[in-house]
Amino acid sequence: MIRVGVAGAAGRMGEAVCAAVRGAPDMELVGRADPQLDVTLAQMLEQDRPEVVVDFTQPDTALENALACLRAGAHVVIGTTGFDIDSLAEQARAIAAQTPQGEPANVFVAPNFAIGAVLMMRFAAEAAKHMQRAEIVELHHDRKLDAPSGTAARTARLMADATGGEPAGGIPIHSVRLPGIVANQEVILGDVGQTLTIRHDTTGRESFMPGVLLAVRGVRTLERSPVVGLEHLLLESE
Ligand SMILES: NC(=O)c1ccc[n+]([C@@H]2O[C@H](COP(=O)([O-])OP(=O)(O)OC[C@H]3O[C@@H](n4cnc5c(N)ncnc54)[C@H](O)[C@@H]3O)[C@@H](O)[C@H]2O)c1
Repeated sequence: MIRVGVAGAAGRMGEAVCAAVRGAPDMELVGRADPQLDVTLAQMLEQDRPEVVVDFTQPDTALENALACLRAGAHVVIGTTGFDIDSLAEQARAIAAQTPQGEPANVFVAPNFAIGAVLMMRFAAEAAKHMQRAEIVELHHDRKLDAPSGTAARTARLMADATGGEPAGGIPIHSVRLPGIVANQEVILGDVGQTLTIRHDTTGRESFMPGVLLAVRGVRTLERSPVVGLEHLLLESE
């Protein structure tokens, strides 16, 4: 059984993750950290000794949370968006280098755990090689703290990487925040006399759970760390 702790356990995503972990035959939910539950991450790490921590918290806490997990020897799966992934990578490597013995803990980050979103990013990167310009419209619920979304930022980065650099003017991202929406994204590519639109709609948070459980299983045996993007666990050719 994989001993799993959840940071942000009282949040919208955290509650869904706790339910998914409870329902997984090979996992045990050993701890739930959240200020709303009066349990800090430090307390959970110390008392419950999770093997893997899943973090769905806030942009301003995700980095520190991840580093605390690594220092405690717990692997960490991060779904929180809007924090500096490059800074995390640098500091995570420093912690791994200081680990005196045994295998250091790993980090897995995905700005989007839905298979459809992973495919949208892949198709957008492919399409960007063949069309002149692109813009991204991302639409989320009005309580989302970060803009642009982590998915939009990552899509733009993958499109730029696929084409060897951003097109002139970059890939603009438009962020819409309204009640009634979960998460949607459109990538619109334009060329002479035509446009191509690639759209993904998230209608429920359960769409993220198979990806989260896959990451909990996969994070323990990553060949490098950190790994960013569910495609690395999901699509064989990645
Ligand atoms: N990667 C994905 O597929 C995906 C999907 C949906 C949402 N998200 C991201 O997940 C994050 C959470 O989204 P949400 O809608 O559940 O937000 P939410 O506001 O409902 O939940 C966040 C929870 O984190 C708690 N929290 C804050 N600081 C904490 C800390 N230091 N330790 C532990 N818990 C802490 C809050 O009390 C709250 O309960 C956001 O960054 C969002 O963008 C990612």
